[in-house]
Amino acid sequence: MIDTEQIRKDFPMYGRGGMYGKRPLHYLDNAATTFKPRQVIEESDRYYTEICANTKRGDYALAHDADVAYDESRETVARFINADPEETVFTSGDTMGLNFVAYGLMPRLHKGDEIVLSQEEHASNVLPWFRVARLTGASVRYVPLTEDGRITPENLRETVNENTKVVSLASLGNVLGQPLPVRELAHIAHSVGAVYVDDGAQSVPHSKTDVRETGVDFLCFSGHKMLGPTGIGVMYGKKEMLEELDPLFYGGEMNARFDSSCGMSLSDVPDRFEAGTQNMAGAMGLAEACRYLTSVGFGNIRDHERKLKRAAVDGMLANGNATVYNAGTDTGILTFNVNGVFAQDAATYLGDRGVFVRSGTHCAKILPEFLKTQATVRASMYIYNDEDDVKALVEASGHAEDFLDVFFN
Ligand SMILES: Cc1ncc(COP(=O)(O)O)c(C=O)c1O
Repeated sequence: MIDTEQIRKDFPMYGRGGMYGKRPLHYLDNAATTFKPRQVIEESDRYYTEICANTKRGDYALAHDADVAYDESRETVARFINADPEETVFTSGDTMGLNFVAYGLMPRLHKGDEIVLSQEEHASNVLPWFRVARLTGASVRYVPLTEDGRITPENLRETVNENTKVVSLASLGNVLGQPLPVRELAHIAHSVGAVYVDDGAQSVPHSKTDVRETGVDFLCFSGHKMLGPTGIGVMYGKKEMLEELDPLFYGGEMNARFDSSCGMSLSDVPDRFEAGTQNMAGAMGLAEACRYLTSVGFGNIRDHERKLKRAAVDGMLANGNATVYNAGTDTGILTFNVNGVFAQDAATYLGDRGVFVRSGTHCAKILPEFLKTQATVRASMYIYNDEDDVKALVEASGHAEDFLDVFFN
């Protein structure tokens, strides 16, 4: 069980008596980014205060210590997703990882080939593929969602064929929060010879991830959505897939040698994807975030989010003035509209009461066609949220028709 009072002691953002200025702090925008515990902040700081040297290139003791910390961070993060360190590439975040994969797979794509996505995908798992499709002559197809917005193995099976070269799906969508049966979906993609890419931006922070179990070819995620620092993320790839992938960036420390006649050979994986000076402090902070989440336990995280989500759905339905788009999912994302109130107005009204939620399309700009609404409000929960946060959300939403008060009072 999660003791939120205890957990909040680790988070400096709750250090001002649970207030943000004059408002109570009900932070419910965790799908956008999360707060950071002091353990993560201190571990990142340790790079700057104790072992500040560049990695992979120094022959002195300080550089060696920085190398060891960077390598150990990679080992910790790899263990966290049950991968090998050589399959675990540090990136600046999920978006960079997905771009690495999409551009890197270009040699596999030709006219007539198909890339399969869903209507719920985030821009970062759509636009790189649009671009690569345009450059290669491949086309994009969408696996149809069920009426309640799910991606099912049956629907994927009916979408893929011998032309499908890539299937790239978020294992937890950032709007409807539906968890995917990744293992089964990856198996279907593999049955037609396609590469399976898992966008884990929302799933990795909230559920145990095991790339050996799911069998995905690539998995990308961001540190900042899982209590880690900004500017650091991971691209996991099966070793043989990484070895096939063309690196997107060239520069220092990703090559083994080059000469004046344009000859070059690349470093081994994962180094060949880490051109230039890396985010050492970020890597160390991300490793600490992995340790922190492991000690909280994903079973506890799931139960906690499930409980908060249930309470939020019940409260919204009892209010009777809202449309909830994902009442049936038990992950910590609640997407809704207060009837008759534009999503941004509702979010502004809630924000005025210290309930910080997101409104708009949440970067999933195809999904509104499916939801038949222009924009939605999204409340997303994490380990430090409690019943009071949910109560404040429900209470304020119950009065969100009064949103004009924010502007005129
Ligand atoms: C499902 C999904 N994919 C990709 C991203 C992009 O992540 P980042 O901005 O950290 O690169 C997000 C961010 O919200 C997301 O929710």
